[in-house]
Amino acid sequence: MCGIVGYIGDGHAVPILIDSLRMLEYRGYDSAGVTVFNGSLETYKIAGRIKELENIIPENTKGSIGIGHTRWATHGKPETKNAHPHISSGISVVHNGIIENYLELKERLTDLGYEFQSDTDTEVIAHLLHFNMNGNSNNSLLDGLAETVKELKGSYAIAALYDKEPGIMAFARKDSPLVVGLGNGSNYTASDVTALLKHTKKVIFINDDEIGLVKPETVEIYDLEGHTISRDPETIEWTLEAAEKAGYEHFMLKEIHEQPTSIQDTFAGKLSELEGTVTLKELYLKPEEIKRLRRATIIACGTSWNAGILGKYLFEKLAGIHTDVETASEFRYSNPVLCGEELTIAITQSGETADTLAAVRSSSSYGCRSIAITNVVGSTITRESDSVLYTRAGPEIGVAATKTFTAQLIALYMLAINLGRARGVISANEAKDLIVGIKRLPGQIQKILNRKEAIKECAIQFAESRDYFFIGRYLNFPVALEGALKLKEISYIHAEGYAAGELKHGPLALITEETPVVAIATKGHTYEKILSNIKEVKARDATVIAVADDDDTEIEKYVDVVLRVPSSHELLSPVLSSVVLQLLSYYTALAKGCSIDKPRNLAKSVTVE
Ligand code: M6R
Repeated sequence: MCGIVGYIGDGHAVPILIDSLRMLEYRGYDSAGVTVFNGSLETYKIAGRIKELENIIPENTKGSIGIGHTRWATHGKPETKNAHPHISSGISVVHNGIIENYLELKERLTDLGYEFQSDTDTEVIAHLLHFNMNGNSNNSLLDGLAETVKELKGSYAIAALYDKEPGIMAFARKDSPLVVGLGNGSNYTASDVTALLKHTKKVIFINDDEIGLVKPETVEIYDLEGHTISRDPETIEWTLEAAEKAGYEHFMLKEIHEQPTSIQDTFAGKLSELEGTVTLKELYLKPEEIKRLRRATIIACGTSWNAGILGKYLFEKLAGIHTDVETASEFRYSNPVLCGEELTIAITQSGETADTLAAVRSSSSYGCRSIAITNVVGSTITRESDSVLYTRAGPEIGVAATKTFTAQLIALYMLAINLGRARGVISANEAKDLIVGIKRLPGQIQKILNRKEAIKECAIQFAESRDYFFIGRYLNFPVALEGALKLKEISYIHAEGYAAGELKHGPLALITEETPVVAIATKGHTYEKILSNIKEVKARDATVIAVADDDDTEIEKYVDVVLRVPSSHELLSPVLSSVVLQLLSYYTALAKGCSIDKPRNLAKSVTVE
């Protein structure tokens, strides 16, 4: 998705902007550009990588003020003319989001004599801003921007420069993230804190319907009526090292290896083995509200949705709460039947997924209490929810979610145990067993990582397959879904995740000797059932790869390859099996020479509908 950076201070803007844009590369982009104030505004942009952008900027380009952008095409092809910044005589604008009424505005501005150079929605912002500053009055950049955003429908994070007011950078935000970074004699804007980690940890998160000015020494924030807003800065805990590769070939591999720590960080300080309790101070639900809960609705997309399916099973089993899992992009257009005594749980690692945010807003309008599970402090979802349960996985740069997924699972276990104890559905002893099991997970994941060679060999053996199936039952069904999603995302192999019992209702027709079937066959009350499903596919000549417990001595009789996980509490094994499948996808994509951290067509944070 698109990324914004901005710099104003006493340093050399070009390298700072380029460096910051590089930190946003992981979000996915197809073109990039910068504007620097060097006596006048100079703009350089290109359909291509940041390295290519760097090559077209003359070496002697001076200037200590600038804005930059990485574009992920929505309106108009990935061509240089569509790359940001967009210009309207002396004004330069970068924008994330979508302007829904851009065609109507374009028509009006064309009638007023403005000539459009691009096919984007963003260019209307530049021309409208110009019109609102010069066309009918002599507004300042700030006043012009205030008038402009009032006419925009849709979502935006905007940074703008004006050559007649060279000491300032203006910004505005609605439904698209924007943060201001505070330095010493230099300040920054960015769509994502990762872009700022090299420069500062002190940030101010900008809210919807706010605009403002960044100057080298000060930051001004206003509402759309011009009232001053004062907000204390926050300190980001993420480190720059955490956002770099640390010797791993890919971010994805590094992030898979970080899971013993990211899981530990997510549950640290919350679990009491002695008392069988999970303390979630961040949960603003009173005990009587918890007891009264009748239903929960989990809202999420992609990998987070897969985590949500496991969440459903956990809430139903451990807390006795009927739970539905909704795809956020569909939920917002359906007619949900919700009421005040229900809970909405939004799962989103980025906290910025447009569909999830819209779905949560819709559920809040029914009076539901909401909890967000997210990895990004200060992200938009944290301001849309009553309670926020943070996963502490650190920055995830690889587009394919790995450590944030397992951290989400841990958050869901903790929430289910907490609610289950409060509602008297599970006993202290049952909770203790789970807590002991959760605390063992980091060591067990480390064991899987230590013997990853077997997974690599298996991945190489089947890397040329055209199709893959992943099957599992009950708790292993979401593991199968996530295994298939991971494989298709980064290796481009067609993969289906299926509830194993459903195969015979259709997909069995696709199973041939050419189709590897990954069966998640860890021990539990559906173990015998998955063995029957394995026999079904073996009878159709499929090659079966099983994910099975270390102490399962029987499985080898039925399958072709066994990938092992340490034996664990039945409810917790999905975490371990998921790590195996992440490695299987990673090594498959590696064998195929795919672009692992930035898969084609995908973006890390999907901030458009
Ligand atoms: O940031 P979110 O968790 O809301 O993102 C949701 C999906 O876009 C995301 O999980 C996507 O499916 C990932 N690329 C999965 O690896």
